[in-house]
Amino acid sequence: MDAVNVGIIGLGNVGSATLNILAENADQIAQKLGFRLNVVAVCSRSVAAKKIPDALGNVARTADWRDVVARPDVQIVAELVGGRGVAAEIIDSAIEHKKSVVTANKEIMAACGPEIWDRAIKSGINLAMEASVCGGIPIHAVLREGISGDRVTGLYGILNGTCNYILTEMEKRGDSMADLVAESQRLGYAEADPSADIDGFDARSKLVLLAALAFGEKITPSDIFVEGIRRITPLDFDYARQLKHTIRLVCGARKTSEGLILFVRPALIPVSTILAGVQGPYNAVWVKGEFGEDTFYYGWGAGHPTGVAVVSDLMRVAREIRSGSPARVSPFAHERLGEYQPVSVTRQKRAYYLRFRVEDRPGIIATLAGILAAKHISLEAVLQEPSTNKQDLPFVITCEETSEQSIRDAVAEMARLEFMREAPLALPMETSL
Ligand SMILES: NC(=O)c1ccc[n+]([C@@H]2O[C@H](COP(=O)([O-])OP(=O)(O)OC[C@H]3O[C@@H](n4cnc5c(N)ncnc54)[C@H](OP(=O)(O)O)[C@@H]3O)[C@@H](O)[C@H]2O)c1
Repeated sequence: MDAVNVGIIGLGNVGSATLNILAENADQIAQKLGFRLNVVAVCSRSVAAKKIPDALGNVARTADWRDVVARPDVQIVAELVGGRGVAAEIIDSAIEHKKSVVTANKEIMAACGPEIWDRAIKSGINLAMEASVCGGIPIHAVLREGISGDRVTGLYGILNGTCNYILTEMEKRGDSMADLVAESQRLGYAEADPSADIDGFDARSKLVLLAALAFGEKITPSDIFVEGIRRITPLDFDYARQLKHTIRLVCGARKTSEGLILFVRPALIPVSTILAGVQGPYNAVWVKGEFGEDTFYYGWGAGHPTGVAVVSDLMRVAREIRSGSPARVSPFAHERLGEYQPVSVTRQKRAYYLRFRVEDRPGIIATLAGILAAKHISLEAVLQEPSTNKQDLPFVITCEETSEQSIRDAVAEMARLEFMREAPLALPMETSL
């Protein structure tokens, strides 16, 4: 049977991993499909300097992505450039040219996935985006097909491998945030500008997509509460350990009677929870279903596993091209499932961990306890590691379950106290995970 022809745009981490897998695994892919996947053209700005595997045979190279999209023999365009600029042009142009699209682009799909899907359906082409979230975990397929018969009530995840690497290494070795950010850049886990990872925005894009698929809603990114990991210190892990907890950047989407609560934030989680076992640059997604109960998915978040996700998407789309499957159904099912109702995270009730750095003097605990009492927050415990530095003395107060709004009000008032070295760090304790 004739091959299905592919054009690959973007030959960076994901693009080169994709080419390697397509070259090295070509025979098995052909056996599974019953036809070959043929790479006919590749593109990147510095394409002349790129190594293209010999096993792929005669592949046209270009630095202009329009050449790939316009080629009559290209049936599927893989957009592996990233970002919101040229990548959006590539996807739009491919749809106009009636080429199916495979993309790893979480940013674009989180910001305007439903609109892109609508255009793709009108154009009669297919779109696949498995590689956009948790490269090594086929979570789109799980939510879209595997457990689509269930009614999801909650979804929790560790969706940013860089943050998870930093936090788990800080826990093990006690190194500082600055050292670990530099180390993850050296290892290729973090970008030169690490902000998207450590400030939580990369994880937010992924949560937008997962929550959209899990709950059938069109999620607005700004509805998700985001807090990054910059303020976490090794000392926080020492205190968390005393409380039999650890700290992870937790992404959550929880259905309540009022609507969806969505957040990306560092939180204390019990050391006994399955999420605490997720170490290094791994990702995990935990889905809670009303009928099917809990399911858990785990895998590497970047590099070659993302290439596997792209190749598997290429295979699925190629199979659908071959079988002439006419009906395209958007995974963003919000139109059919009704209005999305975001609920502010300030409404949720949790126990809280408050970490202070103060200039020591008598009466500090009494002052803080007074502020908590005035907001009807019950103090649970005071923890203090031995320290001789009275100018910068750390300690922790844990509070019983209370509303996030009350904690925010208390923290704002405490931050103004003249003995406070910095605003208190407040982290929720996700004890039910
Ligand atoms: N890295 C991961 O592990 C990972 C995991 C999951 C998803 N993703 C997603 O996968 C996508 C690609 O990520 P990546 O890490 O592979 O990025 P990358 O290493 O920065 O590679 C980007 C590629 O796009 C090419 N490119 C940029 N602008 C171009 C233009 N105007 N015309 C043609 N080519 C252009 C670059 O060309 P030059 O090399 O010639 O400059 C480079 O080959 C992103 O959407 C990312 O979010 C990545």
